[in-house]
Amino acid sequence: MRIEPFGVEIWMNEWETKCELNLAETCVESLTIGQLLDLAGRNGDDLSALLPMPMTYGAIEGSDRLRDAIAALYARQRRANILVTHGTIGANMLVHKALVGPGDRVLAVVPTYQQHYSIPESLGADMHLLHLQPQDGWLPDLDRLRALALPGTKLIALTNPNNPTGALIPQPMLQEIAAIARATGAWVLCDEVYRGTDQQGDGKTASMADLYERGISTAGLSKAFSLAGLRLGWVAAPAEIIAAVSIHRDYDTISVGRIDDHFATLALEAAPRLLARSQAITRGNLQILSDWIDTQPRLGWVRPQSGTTAFVRLDAPMTSREFCVDLLQETGVMFTPGSALGVEGWLRIGYANAPDILREGLRRTGAFLARLP
Ligand SMILES: Cc1ncc(COP(=O)(O)O)c(C=O)c1O
Repeated sequence: MRIEPFGVEIWMNEWETKCELNLAETCVESLTIGQLLDLAGRNGDDLSALLPMPMTYGAIEGSDRLRDAIAALYARQRRANILVTHGTIGANMLVHKALVGPGDRVLAVVPTYQQHYSIPESLGADMHLLHLQPQDGWLPDLDRLRALALPGTKLIALTNPNNPTGALIPQPMLQEIAAIARATGAWVLCDEVYRGTDQQGDGKTASMADLYERGISTAGLSKAFSLAGLRLGWVAAPAEIIAAVSIHRDYDTISVGRIDDHFATLALEAAPRLLARSQAITRGNLQILSDWIDTQPRLGWVRPQSGTTAFVRLDAPMTSREFCVDLLQETGVMFTPGSALGVEGWLRIGYANAPDILREGLRRTGAFLARLP
């Protein structure tokens, strides 16, 4: 199987350990195990509970308690609709592998997480991209989507809330997307790993799996739940998809680690507290970022509505990669160049790290921008 190199992951692998202030990070500031236990109302005794745990594979599809806690994040999902995976990245890979074959028509809304077009392309799909535009607030143009969604379209893949733009497709628009898919019989895969970080309300936007009978939602604990180290994700989907994905999953997953399953369950049973902490960080930090953007004549943006990243237009005589490498080497601040996401002239700023890291990173970036020709 041939596949395109993963632009963002290559950028991260190359630079993440060399930066001082990481504003390329897309996770809400990660929790320690101690902080997780505190938030979940537990204590050291709960760690001791791990001691008698036999290191078997555990429940193959994820423990019942974990799948119940995941199902509770949705309006219409039950345990049988949930399959636990190695991160959202594992969930996405499995869904694409289970659904897409050579010649299948697949639509991906871009910019997005590269899995959603490079995996189907590698599987031989007839791949079509719908490019989001800043003048549309980075929301999909539904007339364009309708025109691309020819009869027989197999899959429409999107990310909501969006990485990198921070745009949030509201529920009525998700329903319109479902109607477009329904008319062609297409499945909709919606990567919802940033769900829980909306700037308004309870922070949890509607989920495609709840809205559409052929809707598939993937998500995980890395971003809104600040627990990337657990490598815990899932697929929420109709039973037919869970069965198809399970066939592939048997070849590359078996089960997730029992320790991961244990901590993930504690985390999700305390989901409102974890999400409240994340929202306090993302809402406070977006205001810091917004105040700073207002002072920067070379930068422009569509203010994010959700997620942990802002996509910022750069007005400077250099590529986004040149800018990011120079910035990193001169100041220790790390952004992600738009070119790693297939959009030149833009920068992705992850604003959900600790507020003091964000403030200091922006201060140094402001001084760097002021020195540019
Ligand atoms: C949209 C999107 N999907 C999936 C992932 C992978 O998430 P996980 O850590 O849950 O595998 C990321 C990570 O950056 C992401 O941005």
